[in-house]
Amino acid sequence: MVENNTASSARALAVIILAAGQGTRMKSSLPKVLHRIGGRPLVGHVLDVARDLHPDGILVVLRHERDLIAEAVTGISPEIRVVDQDEIPGTGRAVQVALDELGDFDGDVLVLSGDVPLLDADTLDALVAAHRASLAAATMLTAVVEDPHGYGRVIRGIDHSVTRIVEQKDATDDEAAVTEINAGVYVFQAEPLRAHIGLIGTANAQGERYLTDMIGLLHASRLTVGAVVAPDASAALGVNDRVQLAQAAKALNARTVRRWQLEGVTVQDPDTTWIDVTATLAPDVTVLPNTHILRATAVSSGAVIGPDTSLVDCEVAENATVRRSDATLAVIGPDTHVGPFAYLRPGTRLDAGGKIGTFVETKNSTIGEGSKVPHLSYIGDTTIGRGVNLGAGAITANYDDLAKHRTVIGDEVHSGSHNVFVAPVRIGDGAKTGAGAVIRKDVPPGALALSVAPQRNVDGWVETNRPGTAAADAAVRARSAQEADDGAQQEQG
Ligand code: UD1
Ligand code: CA
Repeated sequence: MVENNTASSARALAVIILAAGQGTRMKSSLPKVLHRIGGRPLVGHVLDVARDLHPDGILVVLRHERDLIAEAVTGISPEIRVVDQDEIPGTGRAVQVALDELGDFDGDVLVLSGDVPLLDADTLDALVAAHRASLAAATMLTAVVEDPHGYGRVIRGIDHSVTRIVEQKDATDDEAAVTEINAGVYVFQAEPLRAHIGLIGTANAQGERYLTDMIGLLHASRLTVGAVVAPDASAALGVNDRVQLAQAAKALNARTVRRWQLEGVTVQDPDTTWIDVTATLAPDVTVLPNTHILRATAVSSGAVIGPDTSLVDCEVAENATVRRSDATLAVIGPDTHVGPFAYLRPGTRLDAGGKIGTFVETKNSTIGEGSKVPHLSYIGDTTIGRGVNLGAGAITANYDDLAKHRTVIGDEVHSGSHNVFVAPVRIGDGAKTGAGAVIRKDVPPGALALSVAPQRNVDGWVETNRPGTAAADAAVRARSAQEADDGAQQEQG
């Protein structure tokens, strides 16, 4: 970005991220900057872009819910320095405490807001480059938006240079009509910033020390203040309430979906497809409507996901299809079929060519190569070998009220419909089970296991015990029709 400007790009760069505010407008017990979009906290997105710039240091200013945010931030990147803001409120004060921490640092200081999550490294690189090329004391990022309500407005002089920023609450009607807003992102030369930061007062509607006043102060000292207008205004979106949180999530998602489309992923309906920034998709994956691909999910080429599917931290191999299903921490092998209406819970592994079908719930279980659990089943704490077919309604009873136990089913086992496997239990290779069996004891290889008592029919029970009911009448009719039929056959014979 700044190849033609090596001398100025050799200046040091420090990044200060402001995240000490209360986030009152979120009305949340969770600190604002820990609310997530695209699967990552707001402040995580800001940290990511800050790290992309390879600065000499990153400082995060905290106060409200300090420990919780500090833990999240240092978890993302341990080299981040946490700076504590004191009881004096305002973005100006937040920068002042960070500046104290920087000592006699004399490079450029890039200030970011923990609640402005959609900035990309190119935009920030361009901002820093413009700042260095113009030798300005400060360069701010602005955006021209349709609805500027709530943002600081950029006030320019007759020569079009920025003279000050006025906050929503302090703006006259004319000022409020300005549609160029302050993105809350600035680069300052450290020296003039340090020289003026103590001059920021509290003469505003909120009685806080506004960093925005710095622009007016520098201008009054006849120092140059530059501005770069963000090419994509949505990148400057600030999140103060849940409406903006949803807008930011949507804008980020649109960007993510587009990126994957350009990488060769078919996304049939970008509006109803949600992909976390942490998920990865290979070329020639197809994503059908109403599908959520979340956290560290990775989908391989040829897989078809959706419609109506959620994958959380899943691995999906080549050519798998997952329809109308919900899966978390599952490994779905190549050429497999999942759904419609399957529920794969953590620890599910479906090997190549296998199937987890309709109304099937699985948990902590392996389903071996080519094995199928096609209909109406619960499979928990189970190991299934290869080439197995479980009949409709197979249930592994893994819990005996005290502990969970495993069911182990060998290779090439075929079970009858509606079986219960009472764990711990083992079914040997090639064994078969009858319909309705309750399998409480191990089945040796190749055995047929039957547990249902022989069927006994009590003739005429309904006519005797329920006389005059519709059932009894139907039985009588069927019996006389049968007798007439039998008589006719005897005559013929
Ligand atoms: C701020 C700007 C506004 C700009 C908007 C862009 C000021 C006074 N106003 O308004 O011009 O258009 O951002 O999104 O700066 N914070 C601290 N310490 C504090 C107060 C806030 O660290 O004492 C942090 C917050 O956690 C937040 C950021 O600074 O991450 C911005 O604060 P916020 O209260 O959201 O400012 P806005 O009203 O959005
Ligand atoms: Ca804000």
